Amino acid sequence: MTDDERLRQKMMTAVDEETMQYAQTISKEFAKLIVYYKCAMLEVQTRFTVLNEEFALEHGRTPVNSIKTRLKTLPSIREKMERRSIPFSFEAMENQLNDIAGVRVICAFPEDVNTMANAFLKQDDIVLLQKKDYITNPKPNGYRSLHLIIAIPVHLADGKRMTKVEIQIRTIAMDFWASLEHQLRYKRANEFTPEMAQELYECAQLSAALDNRMDDLRRNVHKYNNPTDGV
Ligand code: GTP
Ligand code: MG
Repeated sequence: MTDDERLRQKMMTAVDEETMQYAQTISKEFAKLIVYYKCAMLEVQTRFTVLNEEFALEHGRTPVNSIKTRLKTLPSIREKMERRSIPFSFEAMENQLNDIAGVRVICAFPEDVNTMANAFLKQDDIVLLQKKDYITNPKPNGYRSLHLIIAIPVHLADGKRMTKVEIQIRTIAMDFWASLEHQLRYKRANEFTPEMAQELYECAQLSAALDNRMDDLRRNVHKYNNPTDGV
């Protein structure tokens, strides 16, 4: 090996090590951030589970049908930031993305959506950052759901950190429509003709009508069986 070759090899190794170290630091920092989001998500899930248990004790039925959680992956975080022309940094990721941690609370009846949202938001360590009520004002395509962006404290060994979580609260009927519409869109890859969009919109109306009928029925059943109750 000539001196020149030796030097080149040395440089290559040096660069590689530096890159490796950099990559390790980055992934450690990223992993730590993700742990905060994961804990915040679990905390939110637990709070809704507790509210559900308490409601069941009091009223003899469970308003929460199921809870789903999901963490955004790094590729999906990068894709969203690129789509929004946000240069990638951990700071930008934390400040500009609200849905790295997501919790979906699926309720039985429309009234349960508000009951659960209000009981959760009343907790004194929860900070409400944004509320979008697509139930009172559905999206033009018919989508209904209550969206909350909140911050919740996460306590780790080296301190407390307020961490953002996106919460979607919806009924089984709202979730049924949203899940199937999402499948038909297939990650934005599929387009709809105006007729298809209209058909989807009408299905959303049907699901809203079904929700209202079931809510009326719930009220009537309650009244019939508890004639002295004001509700
Ligand atoms: P992103 O879509 O996540 O960038 O957020 P946004 O700022 O548009 O917020 P929005 O609250 O409108 O939507 C957030 C999430 O709600 C989405 O990521 C979906 O999970 C869900 N969502 C919103 N609109 C629709 C819809 O038309 N159909 C379905 N299936 N889900 C929707
Ligand atoms: Mg999203």
